[in-house]
Amino acid sequence: MVKTLWAVSDLHTSVAANAEMLDRVQPTNPGDWLLVAGDVAEKTETVLATLATLRQRFHTVVWSPGNHELFSQGGAQAQGREKYEELVRGCRELGVLTPEDPFARFGDVTVVPLFTLYDYSLRPQGTTVEQALQSAKRKEVMLSDELFIAPFVDIRGWCWERLSYSVNRVGRVEGPTVLMNHWPLEPQLTQALGVPEMAMWCGTKHTKGWAERYQARAVVYGHLHLPGRSTIAGVPHIEASLGYPKQWRNTLDSRSWPVAVLEVPDGA
Ligand SMILES: [Fe+2]
Repeated sequence: MVKTLWAVSDLHTSVAANAEMLDRVQPTNPGDWLLVAGDVAEKTETVLATLATLRQRFHTVVWSPGNHELFSQGGAQAQGREKYEELVRGCRELGVLTPEDPFARFGDVTVVPLFTLYDYSLRPQGTTVEQALQSAKRKEVMLSDELFIAPFVDIRGWCWERLSYSVNRVGRVEGPTVLMNHWPLEPQLTQALGVPEMAMWCGTKHTKGWAERYQARAVVYGHLHLPGRSTIAGVPHIEASLGYPKQWRNTLDSRSWPVAVLEVPDGA
C-alpha cells in the first residue's frame, strides 16, 4: 500500500456549485495528506468550515492562504494582517497546518506551506506601479484585491516581510521538499494568462529559482485558474486549481483532480 500527497487549490466554496465539488476531494488511503493552496473562500467561517470537512477526511491537511482568504468585505470582518492571524488561529483549533507551524514530513520529504503574497514586481516592464494599475483599470482587468485587500494593509511591505520569514525557515530545511504557495513561484508561469497587467497580482520576482534552491521535488500552486503541470529546471510546478464553474464544468472529468503530487510506502 502507498499513501498519497494530494493537492487542491482555488476551491472557492462560497460558490454553491464548487461546494458540491468538495465531495470529490477524498483520500484513497487513511494515511493520505492534502495540500490546500489557497482561495478556499472569502469569509473566515466558510474557509474554516471547508477545512474542517477536509480535516475529517485526511490524515493531515496543510493550508496556505490565497488572496481571497485575505479579502475584507463588510465592516464586521477582521482586516489585513488580522484576517490572516484569525485564520491561522482557526486552523490551529482544527489541527490544520499553516505557514506558521513547524514543517511536517511526508516520507522523506519536508512539506513547506508558503505565504509570499505579491509585490507588483511582475508588472509590465518599464512601468511604475501607478501606471500599471491605471493600465489594468483601463483594460478592466483589475483584481478585486485592490478593493478588498489593498486598503487595509501595505501589500508590498507585507510581501517582503513574508519573503524574509520564508527564506529564513525554508533555508534551514535539509533534504528534499515539496513547496506550496498560492501564487506561482516562477514568474514565467504568469505569461500563460495572456494579459501582462494581471501578472502583478500573481507573485513576485523574488521567488524565482526557489524550487531548485530548496530541493523541491514539486511545487504546488494555484491562483491563475489554469490547471496543469510545467517542468522548470527539472522540477514540476503543478497548478492544482478547481476554479469557477465556467472554468471546470467541461474540463474536470478529463483531468486528474485532486492532483496526486507524491506517493510513498504506507509505513514511511
Ligand atoms: Fe482563485
